[in-house]
Amino acid sequence: MPNITFTSPIMKKDKTIYAVAGNTATILALAKEHAIPIPFECGDGDCASCLIEVTHLDNKPAMAMMLTEKEKARLKELQMITAEEIEAAEVSDLPPRFRLACQFIPRDEDVMVHFTGTPGGS
Ligand code: FES
Repeated sequence: MPNITFTSPIMKKDKTIYAVAGNTATILALAKEHAIPIPFECGDGDCASCLIEVTHLDNKPAMAMMLTEKEKARLKELQMITAEEIEAAEVSDLPPRFRLACQFIPRDEDVMVHFTGTPGGS
């Protein structure tokens, strides 16, 4: 069961939620459900206002997760994904550090989600 900790300078303190195993909700959907103020506009991977930085907290390697073409293209435009991360995503399905909250569905892994509160500010 994944623990997802949200942290942001606009929150008084970090908040950890426990996503139900098998849940297919995105980070943005989970944040909305728990009143965590990640900025968003389109909710569909187009605007990048929901940019977040994801840190894996457990000692397990990051779980393979195919990056959608839409998310990859948006992260490339923003220069928030390196050539190495693109290769790791394309070859090994490994997630990059920056993600779009409306596209990222957490797996069975503990992660820290950081956002600034400024749209597109991760
Ligand atoms: Fe627009 Fe996520 S809300 S890309």
